[in-house]
Amino acid sequence: MKVVVKLSGSIFDEIDAEQRLSELASMFDEFVSEGNKLAVVVGGGKRSRELIELGRKLGASEDVLDEIGIDITRVNAKIMISSMKTSYSKVITDLREAKVAWDIGKIPVAGGLSPGHSTNAVAALLAEHLKADLFVNSTKAGGVFDKDPKINPTAKLMEKVYVEDLKKMIKGSFEAGTYELLDEVSIGIIERSKIKTIVTGTDMLEVKKALYGEKVGSMIVFERI
Ligand code: UTP
Repeated sequence: MKVVVKLSGSIFDEIDAEQRLSELASMFDEFVSEGNKLAVVVGGGKRSRELIELGRKLGASEDVLDEIGIDITRVNAKIMISSMKTSYSKVITDLREAKVAWDIGKIPVAGGLSPGHSTNAVAALLAEHLKADLFVNSTKAGGVFDKDPKINPTAKLMEKVYVEDLKKMIKGSFEAGTYELLDEVSIGIIERSKIKTIVTGTDMLEVKKALYGEKVGSMIVFERI
């Protein structure tokens, strides 16, 4: 299997970040030792949001704020690299560099790449560039719900979600808990290359299930179901 995993930056904010990241790192090393290929993209989490907010108050322009966000994602990427045995030792800063690491059997780890989008878009681009079989987007939300689970206790996890419906949900044209989910840029990339995508949670066991083809989270589908 050839897989790209996006890890939500929120994992780095958790009180048990050390344990969570070390469990994920061991599972990733094992996955690669079994002959699979893997690339990892990490988000910026609370630290990037706080520093972007501080910079904004002090008058930084939006592109500079994006650069600040990217810097923090790259700090998180360095931590992730340190925690794995099979990682490529330098933070990936362009797509072709990721291919070099991937081709020698190492795990390329990236944060952000350029201003104007998110690490979800980076992960989708990487999945496209590396011709991955699967893109696993591990989010705090745990999947796509028919309503916002934070405010609606009857919200149900959607096992499959049609890409056009997901786009509508993100635009807010129908009620749904897409919050913190894929942005329009990422969905556009997933759609144009029909990348098999699973949105799941951040626990190691959930990510592992997605990697090993077990049913978990929500799958984005390209035909109406
Ligand atoms: P993230 O995508 O990590 O945001 O990028 P996040 O809120 O932590 O997302 P999750 O929780 O991991 O899903 C942090 C910021 O870095 C900038 C953007 O400003 C973004 O809000 N960024 C990131 C870029 O400008 N370009 C990139 O390629 C990636």
